[in-house]
Amino acid sequence: MSSPRPLIAGNWKMHGVGADLDEARAVAADLEERPPGARVAICPPATLIGRMAELMAGTDVEVGAQDCRPEASGAFTGCLSPEMLAEAGASLVILGHSERRAYYAETDEDVAAKAAGALRAGLEPIICIGETLAQRDAGRTLEVVLGQLARSLPAALANSAFAVAYEPVWAIGAGRTPTMDEIERVHLAIRAGLAERFTGEAALAPILYGGSVKGSNAAQILALREVGGALVGGASLNAADFIPIVRAL
Ligand code: PGA
Repeated sequence: MSSPRPLIAGNWKMHGVGADLDEARAVAADLEERPPGARVAICPPATLIGRMAELMAGTDVEVGAQDCRPEASGAFTGCLSPEMLAEAGASLVILGHSERRAYYAETDEDVAAKAAGALRAGLEPIICIGETLAQRDAGRTLEVVLGQLARSLPAALANSAFAVAYEPVWAIGAGRTPTMDEIERVHLAIRAGLAERFTGEAALAPILYGGSVKGSNAAQILALREVGGALVGGASLNAADFIPIVRAL
């Protein structure tokens, strides 16, 4: 059994008005010229998924969403179901991002329910976990991350493609990262957690690192054991910053 290919995913968050799709087009054009060592995905705001999916059809760039409700439909004003995102053209969905956990009080159990909904609709979940600065300073990183891992992953993932993203909350948008040793230690622990819970390809699911990944640190981070890609925020917004990360594998 072979390990799934590494994945570099761009998380545009609430950015991307007008000409920003040119940046995605430039990423696709670069990948066409030189096939990358990784799968590449861009997760724009939901309003752009349809246009982005049309633009990226026939290219190597996959399109993802940033969140979903667990249900297929219902009275949830303002929300989007996994089925809607799939119909719009998404093939992946980021779930449990720390901004969702912090601003919308999403729990691990919410994230697990969303992931099960995503699978129902054929979306590949990228499930985010990571400790806060206070938890890190208290020496609780592994306890927090492994607890989130155990609770945020539904059993249904056993037979599906998915990725885990380790994103230390304090490293997101902060311009600083953990040491390479720290990243590797957490990724090895996450891999052990996955191997305890799952068998086959699910146990080998890519573990992405996220939090201030940029062209200048990507190669070092991506070379660490059990780092199977990256979830990139700020540096995914323009092609000149994103392409060097895609090329760093
Ligand atoms: P950043 O964000 O790369 O801007 O730190 C990462 C993320 O939030 O996924």
